[in-house]
Amino acid sequence: MKIKAPRGTYDILPEEAVKWQWMEQIIQETARRFGYREIRTPIFEHTELFQRGIGESTDIVTKEMYTFADKSKRSLTLRPEGTAPCTRALIEHSQYNGTLPVKWYYIGPMFRYDRPQTGRYRQFHQFGVEAFGSRSPYLDAEVIFLLVEILQRMGLAEYELHLNSVGCPVCREHYRQKLIEHIAPVKEKLCKDCQVRYLQNPLRVLDCKEASCHQAIVNFPTLMDSLCDDCSSHYSMVQKTLQANGIDYIHDDNLVRGLDYYTNTAFEIHIPGIGAQSAVGGGGRYDGLVESCGGPSLPGIGFALGLERLLLAVDKLGCVPELRQPLDVFITVMQDDLEPQAISLLLKLRQQGLSADKDYSGKSGRAQMKLADKLGARYVILLGEDEIKGNFVTVRDMQSKEQFKIEEGLVPFLRARLDNR
Ligand code: HAM
Repeated sequence: MKIKAPRGTYDILPEEAVKWQWMEQIIQETARRFGYREIRTPIFEHTELFQRGIGESTDIVTKEMYTFADKSKRSLTLRPEGTAPCTRALIEHSQYNGTLPVKWYYIGPMFRYDRPQTGRYRQFHQFGVEAFGSRSPYLDAEVIFLLVEILQRMGLAEYELHLNSVGCPVCREHYRQKLIEHIAPVKEKLCKDCQVRYLQNPLRVLDCKEASCHQAIVNFPTLMDSLCDDCSSHYSMVQKTLQANGIDYIHDDNLVRGLDYYTNTAFEIHIPGIGAQSAVGGGGRYDGLVESCGGPSLPGIGFALGLERLLLAVDKLGCVPELRQPLDVFITVMQDDLEPQAISLLLKLRQQGLSADKDYSGKSGRAQMKLADKLGARYVILLGEDEIKGNFVTVRDMQSKEQFKIEEGLVPFLRARLDNR
């Protein structure tokens, strides 16, 4: 039996990998412009970090974590997201003692035992940012500007930014109670999951995808009506700043996010027309997370983009440019005994910064030229007996088909012509 990649995982083959490089380069460059620096955290963490950070009753913690015991019987979990690990790193290295806010970004694989389908995998990749140490609503806006800037630089004009405020623990608790009171009389109309979870987590009913739940909560009180003055004015400032800078958004009363750490601003980016998994990113403020993970009382805000979904969207909407990686030079060897000279020349060209390759399977001269063409080589260097005896090389321009006899200055010659293109 052939061994295949595990369900929900996949390979990124070279033709796809160039698209990933293109996307990651845009993302990292944009993050750099906004003053975010890269952090790399481990792929696995102590299970407790996610239980405490994300919330014991969330879908991620109850159903989706890859948790295992190592040989010392410690419970470890493959990271399902990046916010809790960043928070752990911030506390562990006392990074809050320096200049605030601390602005970090990360790119890497995350793991969730989700039901696989297009745009939903068990190993997927996120780009995320986390800014710790400021409660300024302008920072909320900045994080959203960064997200929008990335989408725009990738050519994605059609997106929906959904925005809401989930309040602070105090006003949210009032709302929770109010919601439970409203749900109780109509609970039979809810889906099976919501009938069970509404007492513990009534807010999840608001963003349940089942039509029956949608209908049951029409005309229910909204979170907005319950926000305290402080949370309400924080949310107004975020909205004003977005409006003043031309960022369109949809205020969405039902946006509550699936992780427990959120407070105040919450947002999601949806791209219509890419299928069921239209949420390419989401985030928000999490002012209690650092403290609940054992650190000082320090606010935070961030978001994560799902890179598979983002790539799916740009691919589908035709935003990915032509990304061939042509070869500068291909060396064609006309006789076996000239292989050592070819190898030395290849090495020299590469040391000088050119991309160069040759055949390693004993192809005929004609077949080598075909291969050069297939690899998109711009120049072919012909090495034959005449060339070695005469101490020169023949360079063929694969586009114009011109040939040149070069005795000295091969690299500057090639470089000048390559730069002229
Ligand atoms: P999240 O909404 O759970 O938030 O995930 C962010 C994005 O990751 C989603 O919008 C989606 O694009 C992608 N994603 C999630 N699960 C999968 C999956 N199974 N397959 C493919 N893509 C997926 C968080 O993870 C938060 N840590 C974001 C954040 C950062 N909040 C504050 N800072």
